[in-house]
Amino acid sequence: MHVIHIQNELIKTLKTLPHIAFVPTMGNLHEGHIKLIQEALKKTKHIVVSIFINPLQFNSKEDFKNYPRTLEKDLSILKGLNVPYVFVPSEEDILDQLEKTEIHLPPIANDLCGKFRPGHFNGVATIVCKLFTLIQPDIAFFGKKDFQQLFLIKALVKQLNYPIEIVGIDTVRDHDGLAKSSRNNLLSEENRKKAPQLLQQLNAMKEKVIQKTSSLEEIEAQSVSALNTSGWMVDYLSIRSAQSLENALHDENQIVILGAATLGSVRLIDNIEFCIQD
Ligand code: PAF
Repeated sequence: MHVIHIQNELIKTLKTLPHIAFVPTMGNLHEGHIKLIQEALKKTKHIVVSIFINPLQFNSKEDFKNYPRTLEKDLSILKGLNVPYVFVPSEEDILDQLEKTEIHLPPIANDLCGKFRPGHFNGVATIVCKLFTLIQPDIAFFGKKDFQQLFLIKALVKQLNYPIEIVGIDTVRDHDGLAKSSRNNLLSEENRKKAPQLLQQLNAMKEKVIQKTSSLEEIEAQSVSALNTSGWMVDYLSIRSAQSLENALHDENQIVILGAATLGSVRLIDNIEFCIQD
């Protein structure tokens, strides 16, 4: 396994490879990342996994500081998966000159998570563009847990004509439904038990949407209230069009319900996607 730290070295190493698959990560690898890598390996053996905790996408210094850093363990997982190339850039190398790059995303980047984490998706997009330019993959894999991120990356690739196929991979869940996330390790024992409530509310909302029990706004408000009463601080629970991410219309067929809420000091996100009629 080649662990590469320097941009120019990466470019030199990848130059002659015919078909490259890319899995960007911020490390602290879990089953969700492993699934992305396994799906990538089905396409080609030339896989690049990047590990970079991107300071540009954190709104709070505290959150950035607390983000789990487990490089040695991550590298041994990647070795076990037979990943041939791992890119672990330093902040200085990757961020050099990057403040001069301004990426304008569609307005939906300022809604949902973007509303509560201003600038977050610009930080994601800036680093993803940089990595795409360095690696020049043919195909790149992202988790559907970050539905809005995946949506915006697809939009970005279209906007900038990157010849890259973007593949979304289903969320991997724990036995009780909690979506795998690096942040789960930060939950207290008590809050870890409570954490599946987020998915439970999304599923309850789905049933109400299908049964048309009340207006979409009322369905959202009922679940926000249920979670808040149970000790969460809800940012949003929102019923959207899976195609545009705009508020779902009453006759919308392809729906995604997205949620973000904080338990203790840990902010969790999740979503479920479904069609009302097949
Ligand atoms: O999803 C993530 O882990 C990050 O947002 C990404 C895509 C690696 C960019 O830093």
